[in-house]
Amino acid sequence: MCGIIGYTGPRACKGLLLDGLERLEYRGYDSTGIVLLEEDGLVRDRTTGKVAELRALVGANHSSARLGMGHTRWATHGGVEDRNAHPFLSNDGRLAVLMNGIFENYVDLRAEVAAAGHELSSETDTEALVHLLSEVYDGDLVEAVRRVYPRLEGHFAFLVMAADEPERIVAARHAWPPLVVGRGDGETFIASFLPAFLEQTRQVQYVVEDEVVDVSPSGARFWPMAGGPAIEREIEEADASIEVAEKGGYETFMLKEIYEQPTAIADTIGERYRNGALHLDGIGLSDSELASVNRVLIVGCGTALHAGLVGRYLIEEWAGIATEADVASEWRYRNPVFDPSTLVLAISQSGETADTLAAMQLARERGAKVVVITNVMGSAATRAADGVLYTRAGLEIGVASTKCFTAQVTLLTLLALRLAQLRWRLSPEQVSAIGSELARLPELAQRVLDDPALEAKVDMIARRFAHDRFFLFLGRHIGFPICLEGALKLKEISYIPTDAYPGGEMKHGPIALLSDDTPVVAVATDSHVFEKMISNIQEVRARKAHVIAIATEGNDAIAIHADHVLYVPRTIEELQPVLAVIPLQLIAYRIARTLGLDVDRPRNLAKTVTVE
Ligand code: AGP
Repeated sequence: MCGIIGYTGPRACKGLLLDGLERLEYRGYDSTGIVLLEEDGLVRDRTTGKVAELRALVGANHSSARLGMGHTRWATHGGVEDRNAHPFLSNDGRLAVLMNGIFENYVDLRAEVAAAGHELSSETDTEALVHLLSEVYDGDLVEAVRRVYPRLEGHFAFLVMAADEPERIVAARHAWPPLVVGRGDGETFIASFLPAFLEQTRQVQYVVEDEVVDVSPSGARFWPMAGGPAIEREIEEADASIEVAEKGGYETFMLKEIYEQPTAIADTIGERYRNGALHLDGIGLSDSELASVNRVLIVGCGTALHAGLVGRYLIEEWAGIATEADVASEWRYRNPVFDPSTLVLAISQSGETADTLAAMQLARERGAKVVVITNVMGSAATRAADGVLYTRAGLEIGVASTKCFTAQVTLLTLLALRLAQLRWRLSPEQVSAIGSELARLPELAQRVLDDPALEAKVDMIARRFAHDRFFLFLGRHIGFPICLEGALKLKEISYIPTDAYPGGEMKHGPIALLSDDTPVVAVATDSHVFEKMISNIQEVRARKAHVIAIATEGNDAIAIHADHVLYVPRTIEELQPVLAVIPLQLIAYRIARTLGLDVDRPRNLAKTVTVE
């Protein structure tokens, strides 16, 4: 997520903007910038790094500017470089734009403005917008935004200002990225998140998507983008503390990130899949190199490895390529055998995990092609790989990874599909059918999160089992990595010992652990191994253990075998893991909160393990 702030009013605003940006920095930064309307026009300063560096950059320059905008960037398109930092200016310097979110059709938009003679100076999607506006701007920013807006596809919130309109900011948003107006005494703020101006005013108005917002010192006017009378928008009193506001109103970052998963999945898909076509820009291998891959080795740690284990099933299933997934800290000390047609796929949310970096180095020394899936632009892993595929989950602050896991699985799904497509293992019709189902995942994940029945069951399970001293997780096939992930979530934030086993393995030892009422979580969504899972659940029930099943909506049969059933929406078997993991995240979360533990900062853990 990027941070946005704008100001118009009687005060010199540079300091207000910099202070506001510092309040937004927790949401992610890799670069930052501001633009001010000075006597001689728009003046922009920007830099990679933190807001403190921007403050140092602009600090000495006196400014009496009373109109300005600022941005902290969490890079999605374009590397972490000064030239990709917002704001962006039109070639004539008359317009400035900054944005949170992505344009999925940015390739077409960039090509169009370049063809129209605009000089593009960045790799970003946002820059295309300022040139599109420049094409149609004739002195009225609201009108210019209205004319360009229908061309924009994706999830975005942007601000625009013009040198010729000294008191005006125009804004608009579509889909998830938020915007909120702060009403002061003869001054107005507009920002992506409340903390940016909460110390200046608590009088707020929320921007609804597909409106054009006309911001001036006297306030904000709201118009339907498609035309029609102005909209009366209530002014509310923001009652959030800065701390709560930084969590978007959620009690913890981890809960916020669990609820951000539909957006993380949608953004990770982005423009990568559209109408049967797959675009994995940045992968670093040509189509012919990808098509000739005859073996895939996946390495990662913790949650990243669990995502890789899901990916293993998908790549073998769809692309027919021999695939392994291994713990990076073990793999690097084996004597792994591979050849130049082996693809090593490293997965690391932070891109800084020492064991994963070491495994990548070993692979490259042995001549393998290395691609990394990571969430952090410019991380060490991106410099150690031949290709980079970014998840677009936004900054993940909670130590227990949630939205990055589902984003990693989403990206692995796209990669498996692409490999299958290039090897003609799936027909265009099959790719389209899977791709269409993939495109539904954000909506299906939202349904899980919005399901009151599931929430009630999670709360009941947490109250009932929070003081148990052991949980066993069981699953088969692609459901087994989800068990590993659910077991890890529970143990790392509640400190309750857990174990996860393939259902078929239980009778080879773990079943000895079961006694009356031992909680056993069974991932039993509809699949070709569902009946086998039912057999395992019956073996568990025969020992009087307590079965909590994750199942597919509509499958009533499982209710006679399990004590509690948490249903997730139906999708194809291979995509079910993204949905099945969410109840497990919520169970772990609620149990840890029931125990009064600090879920964002669990004992002994760090968000990034940069030591071996
Ligand atoms: C997951 O909840 C843990 N925080 C941990 O296992 C984590 O997944 C692991 O350290 C790998 O981190 P990375 O993805 O940044 O490499």
